[in-house]
Amino acid sequence: MGVMASPARLALVLSLVLLSAAAAAAAAATGARIPAAAAAPAPAEAEPTYKADARVSAVIRLPNGSKAKSMAFGNGTDLFITSLGGEVFHIDAAAAAAAGDPAAAAAAAVTLAREPGTPLTGVAYDAAQHALFVAGSGSGTAIVYFLTPARPYAVARRVAVRLARVRGWQTPYANDVLLGPDSALLTDSFAPLVHEVPRLERDLVAASEADARGGPAPSVHFHRLGPGFPSTAARLNANGLVFARAGGGGAPRELLVSNFDGGYVARVSLPPRPAPGAGPDGGAANSSVVAELPPLRAAGHGLWPAVRPDCMAHGEAGGVLYLSDNFQDRVLRLQLDPELSSARVTCAIAPRMPESVGGSAAVRAPTALAFREGRLWVLNAHMLDCPFVLPCKGQAYEIVGIDPAAVC
Ligand SMILES: *[C@@H]1O[C@H](CO)[C@@H](O)[C@H](O)[C@H]1NC(C)=O
Ligand SMILES: *[C@@H]1O[C@H](CO)[C@@H](O)[C@H](O)[C@H]1NC(C)=O
Ligand SMILES: *[C@@H]1O[C@H](CO)[C@@H](O)[C@H](O)[C@H]1NC(C)=O
Repeated sequence: MGVMASPARLALVLSLVLLSAAAAAAAAATGARIPAAAAAPAPAEAEPTYKADARVSAVIRLPNGSKAKSMAFGNGTDLFITSLGGEVFHIDAAAAAAAGDPAAAAAAAVTLAREPGTPLTGVAYDAAQHALFVAGSGSGTAIVYFLTPARPYAVARRVAVRLARVRGWQTPYANDVLLGPDSALLTDSFAPLVHEVPRLERDLVAASEADARGGPAPSVHFHRLGPGFPSTAARLNANGLVFARAGGGGAPRELLVSNFDGGYVARVSLPPRPAPGAGPDGGAANSSVVAELPPLRAAGHGLWPAVRPDCMAHGEAGGVLYLSDNFQDRVLRLQLDPELSSARVTCAIAPRMPESVGGSAAVRAPTALAFREGRLWVLNAHMLDCPFVLPCKGQAYEIVGIDPAAVC
């Protein structure tokens, strides 16, 4: 049976197509001059491959039908979730149960915000301002929620900032978000750009108010990723972004950006933050491909599916990077060389649930990762099980906790 022929995969493709229709149509209509993608690399096997009998160690069950997409840990056990249904939730990660507990209940979720009609994608937590920065997908906005101090949290102030446009009519597509020292950075999945908006509340409010008056909004910029970030027209390209080194490593404008359609991870050097009053064009970045991910099969068996990189998280040691491959229900572990000039796949993580809860694949269309206290947390968006454009009311969603040493 062909990989792309299964109904689940067709459903996922349908989801992505519907999610992107407007942006894709716009890009196609312009015949945007985008460099051609590099030739596909040769197939390779992950070495070492995964342990076929590996099990996950913990699970946080999310409410059925929540359409969870991304997550960010906050203070202590605070965990914030964004959904493709346009909602922002708070849950307590202490609700994590042993993965084999069939009676485990869903974590109690507090709905913090609703953005009807706007799938919410990436989310980052700003401890200094107790705020959430959320990527508003096709709305072309970054939405920032300043929260009340004590549980149960509520939104004290919401500020939406429109991202800068390369052309007046082409709405950006905000996918993932990363907090820098004084700005927030967002990938644009249908144009090879990284967007930049201010981080401080007063600057966000100033940008939003200037935009409402007809702009230009101060401190809102885009950076072109340039020819070192090969992209395809009208397809999902720039996706996840993290600092090049864990925690920023003293160089917070050095990034890693994954390319979903191109199957690679690139290093991106952003130019210095533009001076106040500079226009929307924040200057070009320098990009270079660090890891071209070849079609990969695990344990020497089965098909050679292409890797579709989504989100990333730094791991337990320097240069260890986890990358979700959401078409293939797996997370790859990469080892970057110290110069960040190349990387190799050291493990394909595709564990199973314990037999007591059915033994099925434990990673299901993973779209968010977090590494905390030695454990890798993987959010299952289940897009192969239920395309998010459907109600998916009875669909279960969860975050699984994986001990890398036990599965690799
Ligand atoms: C973090 O949570 C703890 C309790 O879990 C609380 O005592 C502390 O004040 C919180 N810190 C912040 C900055 O909110
Ligand atoms: C990009 O590379 C050029 C040539 O090495 C250099 O002059 C420029 O400063 C770099 N820009 C960034 C943003 O790193
Ligand atoms: C959630 O969905 C799962 C699987 O579809 C089902 O087994 C479970 O009973 C549902 N839970 C609730 C509370 O509806």
